[in-house]
Amino acid sequence: MCGIVGYVGRNPAAPILIDSLKKLEYRGYDSAGITVLNSSLTTYKNAGMIADLESILPGEIKGNIGIGHTRWATHGQPNTTNAHPHLSGDIAVVHNGIIENYLELKEKLIQAGYDFKSETDTEVIVHLLHWHLYGEVSSESKKCDILTAFRMTLKELEGSYAIAAVCRNEPGLLVVARKDSPLVLGLGNGEIFAASDVTAFLKHTKSVMFVDDMEIALVRNEGAEFFGIDGTPITKHSTTIEWDIEAAEKAGYQHYMLKEIHEQATSVHDTFSGKVSEMEGSVNLDELNLSNEQIQHLTRIEIIACGTSWNAGLLGKYLFEQLAGIHTDVDTGSEFRYGYPVMCGEVLTIAITQSGETADTLAAVRGAKSYGCRAMAITNVVGSTITRETDSVLYTRAGPEIGVAATKTFTAQMITLYLLALRFGRARGGVNVDDAKNLIIALKRIPGQIQMILNKKDLIQECALQFADSNDYFFIGRHLNYPVALEGALKLKEISYIHAEGYAAGELKHGPLALINDGTPIVAIATKGHTYDKMLSNIKEVKARGAVVIAVADEDDTEIEKYADVVLRIPPSHELLSPILSSVVLQLLAYYTALARGCPVDKPRNLAKSVTVE
Ligand code: F6R
Repeated sequence: MCGIVGYVGRNPAAPILIDSLKKLEYRGYDSAGITVLNSSLTTYKNAGMIADLESILPGEIKGNIGIGHTRWATHGQPNTTNAHPHLSGDIAVVHNGIIENYLELKEKLIQAGYDFKSETDTEVIVHLLHWHLYGEVSSESKKCDILTAFRMTLKELEGSYAIAAVCRNEPGLLVVARKDSPLVLGLGNGEIFAASDVTAFLKHTKSVMFVDDMEIALVRNEGAEFFGIDGTPITKHSTTIEWDIEAAEKAGYQHYMLKEIHEQATSVHDTFSGKVSEMEGSVNLDELNLSNEQIQHLTRIEIIACGTSWNAGLLGKYLFEQLAGIHTDVDTGSEFRYGYPVMCGEVLTIAITQSGETADTLAAVRGAKSYGCRAMAITNVVGSTITRETDSVLYTRAGPEIGVAATKTFTAQMITLYLLALRFGRARGGVNVDDAKNLIIALKRIPGQIQMILNKKDLIQECALQFADSNDYFFIGRHLNYPVALEGALKLKEISYIHAEGYAAGELKHGPLALINDGTPIVAIATKGHTYDKMLSNIKEVKARGAVVIAVADEDDTEIEKYADVVLRIPPSHELLSPILSSVVLQLLAYYTALARGCPVDKPRNLAKSVTVE
């Protein structure tokens, strides 16, 4: 999705803006631009990549303050005219989000004499701001101060926005505001950065201030003043980000995705570390603020998530039902928000979102809260919007994930759901202390077992090469391995562009068998567990129709070789935990397939890392 950046300080703004935009490239974009404020508003923008923008920049652009943008087209083509910044008189604006009432505002502004150059919704913001500041299109004398003009502008906007603006009449001032789109300030020494996320300026500072919904900040190099939309001053405190810049760089790997797959031994460990006691068979999640009694009284869990996070949520459903005996539903944010859910009883809503910014998930959680539910979040991003909209937060400690395809955040989400289900299971008597101890022992083995899989990744690469030219792929699994199958298919389709479908293996004969041909690759997640024999039957079923079966199976399983064409092995683990290991195998399969097909692994077409619009 779009990324915005801003800078005010003592250094030349242009190179800092470009560098910050490059850090946001992973969000996905199709055009880019910057405006530097000097004696005029020096603006460069271009369709295509940031490198294309750089190629049209002169050697030096004077000015220590500016704004920049990467655009992911929603209203209008990805061309130079529609690229941000957009200008009106002496004001330039960049915007992330969607202005829903832009047509109505556009009409009003056209009547007032404003000339629209682009097809974007954003252009209404800059003209509206100009109109509130100057009262008419050709005026240069201010009618009010910039804060008042900004407040009046925001009051008219419906939709979501993170906005940064500079004005030639306000030298040294960067104005930012947000509603439902991420925005954070980085506090340097005599300089301040603004961006959609902290990775944009992490190399300059780790000290940050999050801009909250319906807040405006007037940012100068010596500091930022915050105001509510009604003009009330707001006191803000800074927080320190724990990530360092190395964590956000490629560290010698060909792609971020490969690096992030490799980081899972650590990220999985970091996510459970300090939270489990093997001696006591207990899980400590104090940050939940839920007593044993409150957990016992829960009647239902409602999980809300999108994409990969939804797949983690489906695993969560099985865990909550099996370990804690709590009926659990899993809905996608986009469906839940327009449904008519029955939310009676003690319902706990759990939002799973690595970015903490997914528009549909946020809207669905707001909906759930309006029914009076308690809401908690599982997210990877400290200070993200979801953390401010929910009653409690469990952080996955995966570190920054730059590749668009979620990998280490997915396994960290699964780990967090295990912890939660075990905690609930202990509180509700679904898991006795010995079973809990055994699960915790098995959990602690997972990081080492992930490393074993990574050490043998060449075998997975060989398999990927063998089937890289396929047009269709199917992934099948049962019960806990069903979400693994869904995620395996999602990973493959998004980065290799091969059509891939995940199915509950028992559903094959209800339709998809018709699609199985000679040589169709079917990935069967057939790890040992209570559905293993059923999986063997499904494998025989597809083999009989000509499919080529790639099984994901336990290291010590000799039976599987009789049926599968290729076997990808995982170290034997507790049935409940094997989905984590199988997922790592499938991530590598997708990665090497995409690599073999020459796809842009980290930035798949049409996709964005943080989906901040509906
Ligand atoms: C797939 C992927 C997406 C996200 C989805 C939700 O690899 O990354 O499907 O899982 O857009 O994003 P979050 O978790 O940030 O809410």
